[in-house]
Amino acid sequence: MPVWVQDQCVVVSMVDQLVRKVRTGKRKSLKASRLAFGSLMTKKWSTFADPDIIRINKDLMADVLRIYRENFTGINERRFTMYCRFFNETCYAFLERGKVVGYCIFFVRPVFSYSHIYKTATLYSLAVDSDHRVYGIGKRLLQKGIREMKLNSVNCISLYVATENMPAISLYKKAGFRILRELEDVCGPGLKCYEMDLGLGQGLP
Ligand SMILES: CC(C)(COP(=O)(O)OP(=O)(O)OC[C@H]1O[C@@H](n2cnc3c(N)ncnc32)[C@H](O)[C@@H]1OP(=O)(O)O)[C@@H](O)C(=O)NCCC(=O)NCCS
Repeated sequence: MPVWVQDQCVVVSMVDQLVRKVRTGKRKSLKASRLAFGSLMTKKWSTFADPDIIRINKDLMADVLRIYRENFTGINERRFTMYCRFFNETCYAFLERGKVVGYCIFFVRPVFSYSHIYKTATLYSLAVDSDHRVYGIGKRLLQKGIREMKLNSVNCISLYVATENMPAISLYKKAGFRILRELEDVCGPGLKCYEMDLGLGQGLP
């Protein structure tokens, strides 16, 4: 049918554009096509309103990047910025009196099975400004992400966390994440980290 063919063309051309953008950015750790597909999967995203948490937009980017720089070593700003652009629906900033004091970034990827395409998410980065910690901001950012992942039929959220990062591990465990295994060199050269995940009960076989 002509309409269907036209829609399909539009989707194919969007995927092409995204794949080209990702390739230009020389992404290495994820296949560009899966990233592009994941990005498309978040386009019709249902949200929960939270008066303090909004999507990261370009006006907030400088503050978000500052918090990212202050909290992590071995940073990759280009990749970070690209995730914020491609996965805008799943990149959250916590505002206090109009100022960014924390952020949480997820990306979504497809998992293909024989008969279905499932969505899985990765918590790519989470940080709260040092002056604003232990007031529940990290928990609220994480909870907002988890609730929206459930609402949008994401099967599972995974993450990597350094084995010595007790505040973060405690936060993730309280949110229901479990430790899957210990790995080396994922959080940085020579560093040990845990891979953790949270199943969201959406029926991935
Ligand atoms: C991890 C981080 C995001 C937590 O943010 P936060 O706003 O301070 O955390 P919250 O106040 O929401 O605390 C939620 C839970 O986290 C855990 N937690 C937070 N700070 C903690 C600390 N200093 N020691 C132990 N547990 C801690 C607790 O389990 C807490 O639950 P509780 O309030 O019932 O005790 C923050 O410490 C941070 O930005 N760290 C640097 C960046 C980082 O390591 N990010 C994670 C990368 S994987």
